[in-house]
Amino acid sequence: MKALEGVKILDMTHVQSGPTCTQLLAWFGADVIKVERPGVGDATRKQLVDVPGADSLYFTMLNHNKRSVTLNTKSDEGKAIFTKLIQHCDVMVENFAPGALDRMGFSWERIQEINPRMIYASVKGFGPGPYQDCKVYENVAQCAGGSASTTGFRDGLPLVTGAQIGDSGTGLHLALGIVTALFHREKSGKGQRVECAMQDSVLNLCRVKLRDQQRLKAGPLTEYSQYGEGVPFGDATPRAGNDSGGGQPGRILKCKGWETDPNAYTYFITQAAVWEKICDVIGKPEWKEDEKFATPKARLPHLNEIFDAIEAWTMTKTKFEVMDICNPLDIPVGPILSMREIAEEQSLRDTGTVVEVDHPERGPYLTVGNPIKLSDSPADVKRSPLLGEHTEEILAEIGLSADEIEIAKAGGAV
Ligand code: COA
Repeated sequence: MKALEGVKILDMTHVQSGPTCTQLLAWFGADVIKVERPGVGDATRKQLVDVPGADSLYFTMLNHNKRSVTLNTKSDEGKAIFTKLIQHCDVMVENFAPGALDRMGFSWERIQEINPRMIYASVKGFGPGPYQDCKVYENVAQCAGGSASTTGFRDGLPLVTGAQIGDSGTGLHLALGIVTALFHREKSGKGQRVECAMQDSVLNLCRVKLRDQQRLKAGPLTEYSQYGEGVPFGDATPRAGNDSGGGQPGRILKCKGWETDPNAYTYFITQAAVWEKICDVIGKPEWKEDEKFATPKARLPHLNEIFDAIEAWTMTKTKFEVMDICNPLDIPVGPILSMREIAEEQSLRDTGTVVEVDHPERGPYLTVGNPIKLSDSPADVKRSPLLGEHTEEILAEIGLSADEIEIAKAGGAV
């Protein structure tokens, strides 16, 4: 039995943030019923299409293990069916633009009347305040949540990151809110509202930069490269390039082959505990006794000189050789892996972190599996549903007769 088996999720989500959340719940065993507009469906089905006529990877990779029902929740007949679905389910999840469900006639008050045990979870771009009515996509959240202003190099533009911290990051936060509310319901017997704003989730993930904002009052941020370079700090946390965000200085350094391979780099951390081993590995044993480098504090103004010397060594090795040499010495390093290398990495296949799935329209494709591993509830990744694939089955489950289903179809409600 899967951890969330028996939990029914009414999934009104679309695009990425909401679907990430409900996919996770489905991997944990919940029955996720994805409601989609008849004939249209989640817009991502037809975005970034690579196989003509088939659901896109954008859609399939966010909607595994779900069932799809089509329903026009704006028609009277559709609303009556939707009301039955609310009665039938434990959790409703949505990430429409602000106010969309209220406009359909399903406010939180109305949902509670229909099903007082319902947990109603939403993603919005912003929480209550000046921007609460805005539509928001990933990169807007990265910008508004403090990520973009602190990502990139000091002399360059703010940058968005490849990690979808606004969408998938918020979906993760929402999933935790939902299981917490389910746990609470065990004791209270009541549902509750769960809200996650994308701005808040991004900020939660960028908290070290808010930490640094406050540390600025006490003086320069000595672990930032710009300190060693003598560049004064302004009044806001600056972009720190590839500097480590913690107390152990780190950088991305070139490895053998960097001239032609854009990913021939390693991350190298000069952890204080292994400083002497680093000196030996890079051929600078004399630095162990040199006062300029003897303590972490003494080293801070000289980080450029230190990393130049380490890079002179890493450039003589491949990123994997650096790993092989440093790991046994407990020197923390990490190769910059390309997506091709990740896709081909056997150990990630073995753990179910990368999974190959078959699909009737597009054939086999790679996707991510559940990164959260439960010993008694392993995730079993199943392909995403076709549009409306489970409409009849779900309508029958909520008590519609064959005749009623036919009438709903003829009237365009499903
Ligand atoms: N039947 C009938 N109508 C439906 C429906 C259904 N099954 N499903 C959706 N709709 C309607 C909605 O009610 C809404 O109608 P309305 O505007 O008349 O009220 C309409 O479809 C479109 O919904 P909307 O959410 O406005 O879609 P959009 O494509 O214009 O905007 C976002 C997309 C992502 C910008 C927006 O949904 C949003 O800001 N969401 C919150 C933040 C978020 O999650 N962003 C990240 C997305 S990855």
